[in-house]
Amino acid sequence: MLTGGGDCPGLNAVIRAVVRKGEGTYGHHIVGFRHGWRGVVEDETVDLTIAATRGILRIGGTILGSSRTNPFKREGDLAAALRTLEQERIDALVAIGGEDTLGVAHQLAAEGVRCIGVPKTIDNDLSCTDVTFGFNTAVQIASDALDRLHTTAESHDRVLVVEVMGRHAGWIALHAGLAGGADVILVPEVAFDIGEVCEQLRHRHSHGAASSIVVAAEGAQPREGTMATLEADLDEFGHVRLGGIANRIAPEIESRTGFEVRTVVLGHLLRGGTPTAFDRILATRFGLAAVDAAHDGDGDVMVALQGTDIVRVPLADAVGVLKTVPRERLAEAEVLFG
Ligand code: F6P
Repeated sequence: MLTGGGDCPGLNAVIRAVVRKGEGTYGHHIVGFRHGWRGVVEDETVDLTIAATRGILRIGGTILGSSRTNPFKREGDLAAALRTLEQERIDALVAIGGEDTLGVAHQLAAEGVRCIGVPKTIDNDLSCTDVTFGFNTAVQIASDALDRLHTTAESHDRVLVVEVMGRHAGWIALHAGLAGGADVILVPEVAFDIGEVCEQLRHRHSHGAASSIVVAAEGAQPREGTMATLEADLDEFGHVRLGGIANRIAPEIESRTGFEVRTVVLGHLLRGGTPTAFDRILATRFGLAAVDAAHDGDGDVMVALQGTDIVRVPLADAVGVLKTVPRERLAEAEVLFG
């Protein structure tokens, strides 16, 4: 088993469930790889037993560590990974991660490795599952923050621009914005026009509001030609390292409207700490289902939540297309602005 990509609350709950059922019910020997795919490439393992995983249900992060290593990136890494899996006599590999980690799992399946994916990401952007674990906790943290930010914004008649994670999908921004009563929500799916954002704020403030909250996903982009775009570094999977949209929007709003503006970047705060009860339960159910799939001899599948059922879906379908926020969900939120 391994945990890859950005960490997220609930990873340890999955690990615990896999070990409990794997060892306790099926009598399997469970091995953990340290730091995602890096541990497979470098053969860094840890024995995962019921005794070694006691008490981790409510602890954030991952006891295995994580990384964004891509074993298909550097020459020799794939061969090293396959060697490790053979040497460690791995029958099935439970990979807990988002699109990148599970994309690698799907590619490894083509190399004959029996991979079971578990959908993790606070961004909630994996297809075929209603929700990924970690998302609920991130939304809860963000909406708690918005509650606090409302009172200080109101005291000072300010506009607060709050940046949340969400690289390609605006699920956190949308749900936190809905739960926390945001007045503007900016998501990566729809390029924004800063002029229109300012107009929305002016309209509110001329109809009785003295303060506003703008929630911006880190991946929100200005409509072409309306504001300068920034160059950013790429990680091993070719994704840009984001962060900073709030600090770019804030001075624009201040200079165009004359309102006093402050920014808050919630960033990694959304990934830290203890998972909500919802995420603990979902992560636990995913872990139990993943070990069942491994025991059944299944492979190249991901466990997923569909309705109230945990089902297995082909990994190819889960990682093929990102699950982004549809326009109609944004339209629901827009009714509440103003
Ligand atoms: O795991 C997803 C995510 O939290 C994105 O929302 C964010 O853009 C990215 O990870 C940040 O990654 P890192 O912790 O590597 O900077």
